Amino acid sequence: MNVSAATREVVAGEAAGLPPGGRVILDFDGRSVGVFNVAGRFFALNNRCPHSGGPLCLGPITGTALPTTEFKFVYGRQGSILRCAWHGWEFDIETGQALADPRYRAKTFPVTVENGNVVVHV
Ligand code: FES
Repeated sequence: MNVSAATREVVAGEAAGLPPGGRVILDFDGRSVGVFNVAGRFFALNNRCPHSGGPLCLGPITGTALPTTEFKFVYGRQGSILRCAWHGWEFDIETGQALADPRYRAKTFPVTVENGNVVVHV
């Protein structure tokens, strides 16, 4: 992964300490970033919801109702969706995209694993 030299590296901890489904919140320099392990891949999101500024990364990690062509409820993507702690909007953890409204996207940050540590580039 290419990461600009202008970014700051923040170590989230050992990769082994953040198993699939896990999360850690990093608070530094007045900022807050959530780091997630989704099926063995790491992602980081700004802990500020683009809807109304709520603590997005403190919400439940969940799945969502999938689009269907039939009139029935199909649940999927378990573990890859973050539901905001304030109003329940759902966001794709990998992209930060709000599922219900494409105008909203949570800020994401590149994440690498270096020497066994999860490193967020902010
Ligand atoms: S502040 Fe996150 S859904 Fe409203």
